[in-house]
Amino acid sequence: MAEDSLTIVDNRTGKSYQVPIEHGTIKALDLRKIKVDDDDFGLMTYDPAYTNTASCKSRITFIDGDKGILDYRGYPIEELAQHSNYLETAYLILHGELPTQAEYDAWASHITHHTIVHENVKGLMGSFRYDAHPMGMLMSTVAALSTFYPEAKRIHDVQNRRHQIHRLIAKMTTLAAFAYRHSIGLPFVYPDNSLGYCGNFLQMMFSVGKYQVNPVLERALDLLFILHADHEQNCSTSAMRGVGSSEVDPFSALAAAIAALYGPLHGGANEQVLRMLQEIGSKERVPEFVKEVKTSGGEVRLMGFGHRVYKNYDPRAKIIKRMADQVFEVKGRNPLLDVALELERIALEDEYFVKRKLYPNVDFYSGLIYQAMGFPMSMFPVLFAIPRTVGWLSQWDEMLSDKDQKIARPRQIYLGPARRPYVSRDKRG
Ligand code: ACO
Repeated sequence: MAEDSLTIVDNRTGKSYQVPIEHGTIKALDLRKIKVDDDDFGLMTYDPAYTNTASCKSRITFIDGDKGILDYRGYPIEELAQHSNYLETAYLILHGELPTQAEYDAWASHITHHTIVHENVKGLMGSFRYDAHPMGMLMSTVAALSTFYPEAKRIHDVQNRRHQIHRLIAKMTTLAAFAYRHSIGLPFVYPDNSLGYCGNFLQMMFSVGKYQVNPVLERALDLLFILHADHEQNCSTSAMRGVGSSEVDPFSALAAAIAALYGPLHGGANEQVLRMLQEIGSKERVPEFVKEVKTSGGEVRLMGFGHRVYKNYDPRAKIIKRMADQVFEVKGRNPLLDVALELERIALEDEYFVKRKLYPNVDFYSGLIYQAMGFPMSMFPVLFAIPRTVGWLSQWDEMLSDKDQKIARPRQIYLGPARRPYVSRDKRG
């Protein structure tokens, strides 16, 4: 009997099976041999929402949800937040190692010089309705980019893959800023290659006439981008891998990931946090709202609280909370901060939240900071999609090099009617 194995006894047949355990998991396919007879398909697992299923082996991001740990390629998020910048972190996530100075310079130059978009993209974006949501515009335009770069279909060509990755990381800021400018009827601002990644994004967003990038805000945005760069197999990353497994080009797969991120339970959560804080309105109303959450039977949620993986304080939320003061010093204190702080204080002491291990997640404070920086709520999911692009693409790149991976195709438990003959319409009663 192998030391790392599981013995399963099938009570229906009395047979026992040895299933190897590797990396704390068993292979779902190993269960297939558990059958009553030769016609039996074999045992499957039922795991809606993949709450206990590893869909891949990955070397990118490590999370220990109980301890509140997040590492990219082995480096703690706290250290990267303190010492690194977004472009360096993005390089690390994609390549697996921190860059040397020469590697960093070449990488930064690649990304900077790909920020410009084809002039036709402007026409495309200009044709959206005046009040189009920027996330919808971003998603559609990223999908449309696949038609500008048809060579991106050659996904097994590693060099070509890298080229598209550079393009996407670079152009996301331009598309995001264009989407915003369109939504408020301002002319598009072209990228300025003399600025850094976040500084350039800020000037494309906010420049009207002469614009000076504020270094505190640039650094705050850079930090937020580091914190959002990857988060292993969440909903949007699984969408990226799932759609990418059909071997479609990365622009189309990334559009699917953006769509997944758009949902209020994922990247749309920080927008919902602000709406919730605005609705609560004042510190005094917090106890009433918390009561409503607890008695709603799961219908009203405390947005920005809870996480599928973190059953402790989200380490990203801690870093964001510390950084908030620097932004408020420049832009003025967001009055909703007091409501948020009171909400956190009460929730963390409340039996309902403690028992369910519901702590603030990354979205609880990020919206307040983005709002203070001048971003409208509709831009919040877009601000998540920009830095997550490197995570999505790195996961996609890893998947394509993984011999274990095939086109994603889960199974189902069929509970519908048994096979039956067709009945013509005049005989149906
Ligand atoms: N407020 C109140 N109750 C909650 C919350 C919340 N935010 N989150 C979970 N619960 C309760 C559920 O009602 C459930 O209670 P029950 O056991 O009495 O039925 C219990 O906690 C477990 O909840 P699940 O929905 O099973 O937890 P799951 O891991 O599936 O959900 C999720 C995680 C979707 C993030 C959830 O906590 C949530 O909806 N949070 C609010 C939305 C949010 O902030 N999303 C951002 C996530 S971070 C990100 O995507 C970047």
